[in-house]
Formats: sequence, structure tokens, C-alpha cells
Amino acid sequence: MFGKGKKDNGSQETMNASAQGMDQKKAKEMAEQQELENTLSKIKHKFVVLSGKGGVGKSTVAVNLAVTLSEKGYRVGLLDVDIHGPSIPKMLDIEGTRLTAENEKLNPVLYKDNMKVISIGFMLEKGEDPVIWRGPLKYSVIKQFLKDVNWGELDYLVIDSPPGTGDEPLAVCQLIPEPDGAIVVTTPQEVAIIDVQKSISFCNKVNMPVLGVVENMSGFNCPHCNEHVDIFRAGGGARMSEQMNVPFLGSIPITLKIAENADMGKPFISSENSENDAAIKAFESIIEKLIK
Ligand SMILES: Nc1ncnc2c1ncn2[C@@H]1O[C@H](COP(=O)(O)OP(=O)(O)OP(=O)(O)O)[C@@H](O)[C@H]1O
Ligand SMILES: [Mg+2]
Repeated sequence: MFGKGKKDNGSQETMNASAQGMDQKKAKEMAEQQELENTLSKIKHKFVVLSGKGGVGKSTVAVNLAVTLSEKGYRVGLLDVDIHGPSIPKMLDIEGTRLTAENEKLNPVLYKDNMKVISIGFMLEKGEDPVIWRGPLKYSVIKQFLKDVNWGELDYLVIDSPPGTGDEPLAVCQLIPEPDGAIVVTTPQEVAIIDVQKSISFCNKVNMPVLGVVENMSGFNCPHCNEHVDIFRAGGGARMSEQMNVPFLGSIPITLKIAENADMGKPFISSENSENDAAIKAFESIIEKLIK
């Protein structure tokens, strides 16, 4: 009887301790969730740039969208959640910048007074260092990039995703309860369109509104003979938008200077020259639709 009572006490204590542990874990999770919500509540609009296909121009769109919004006077954040292939620091010529901390939170890199940038690229020793992480680790880093960064008050947060519908865009959708929506980037040819359709279905599944489709690398005007060539075919983005019942935002032509500007860390939208004219016009019309 005595022994049994003692044993009961012991298991009661174990149960109390594990209940306490659970309570602490729950309390920590709730505090973190509250902190995340506080940070997100100071950001008016959240745009996610994504695509089922790699190399179609997601980062180009994200960088130039963020810079244009900042040039219009908005307070902008640019968050690079491409953990394995961060290209934002290179495209803005801020590679090698080290992050500082304040109030136990990371300070984003100031590209301009009203434009803040965060990328895993700022944390790597060398640009070519690979990051070998599984899903849960990527989720927790993206959570930190949202919650533990001094973003402050922002009008727009632009999020650049890696290709596909994997851990990173899923984490963004799970962590941001009410994003404005996704800007889906494609190139015109069927091979890209098939993958990009999956991104739109992904958005539908995770309740992420689709703000629209951008067709990038859409035709090329030869600067020498002025002949127009549809290198990757034409019109696939508009046709797919219609089929999938999402808005079509516009097309950006292949422009030699876009790649050159990106390599030099200069967003093409602020590099005015005759070769960029058509792309700049196209891009501005896309942005008007996004901020209308
Ligand atoms: N309209 C364009 N004309 C010419 N070059 C372009 C155009 N758009 C993007 N590029 C170039 O194509 C390359 C791929 O673009 P970008 O890095 O933006 O694609 P991405 O979709 O982000 O790629 P990833 O899937 O690897 O993240 C870059 O060198 C970029 O400068
Ligand atoms: Mg990219």
C-alpha cells in the first residue's frame, strides 16, 4: 500500500514535470507567435515572388520591384528566402555585408534609407559556400528572418523565393497569415509554363491569392537590325493566366542590359539607357497594376 502510494507520487511528479514542460513549450510557442504577429502587423503589404521554374527571372522581378517601390518613396523590405541560391546580395552589389544586431534582433542591410534587405547570403563566409539544410531548419531560419529582424514599419515586404513549391515558399505561406499574394514569374515556352502552372495550383492549395503572372524573357528586339525574335516563343504566360483564371500582369522582353546590370549589382529599372527602355516601360506598367 505504502509502496504503491510512493510509486503514485513518483508518477504524479513525473506527470506534473512533463505537464510543466509542455506548458513552458506552449508558452514559448505562443510568445513567438505573438512576436511574429507583432512584426507582421507593422508591414502593410506582403508580396511573394515565386515560380515553379528556375532561372525565369524571379530575383530580377523581386529586386526591381523592391527598388521601384522604394524610389516611389515607400518603405520597403526585400527578403531573400532562397536559402540554397541567394542572388539578391549580388544583384544589389551588397555582397559581403555583415549583419549587425540590436535589441536581440538582426538589423537588415540598408540598401537605401527606405529599403532594407535580408538574405542568408549575408551570413555565409564566402559567396560560393553551399547551405545543406533540411526542411525544418529552413522553416526556422525563415521564421527568424520574419520575426527576429528589425524590419520596423514597412509599406511593402517583397519576398524572393527559390524555384518550385518546396519548403521555402511553403514556410512563407505558413508563417504569413494574410499575404497580399503571389507574383508568379514564367517564361513563354510550354516547358516552363507546365511547371509554373503547378505554382498557381500550389497557391490555390495554401490559400495564397495570385496577384498575377509576369511573362519574362518575352521576345527580343535586336539592337543592331531591330528585328524582333521570339526566342522562347510568345504569349504562353497570357494564355496560361486565362486558362487558370488569374490576372496577367505583363511581359518583359529579353534585354541584354538586364543580365549585365544584374551582374554589376545595378537594378535595370534605375539604369536608364535606350536598351532598357522597353523593359522599364513594361515593368512600370506591371507595378502600377500591383499597387493600384
Ligand atoms: N528580361 C531579361 N532579359 C535578359 N536577362 C534576364 C531577363 N530577366 C532575367 N535575366 C537574367 O537571367 C538570369 C536569371 O534571372 P534570375 O536570377 O532573376 O532568375 P530566378 O528565377 O531568380 O533564378 P533562380 O531560379 O535560380 O532563383 C540572370 O542572369 C538575370 O540577369
Ligand atoms: Mg532567384
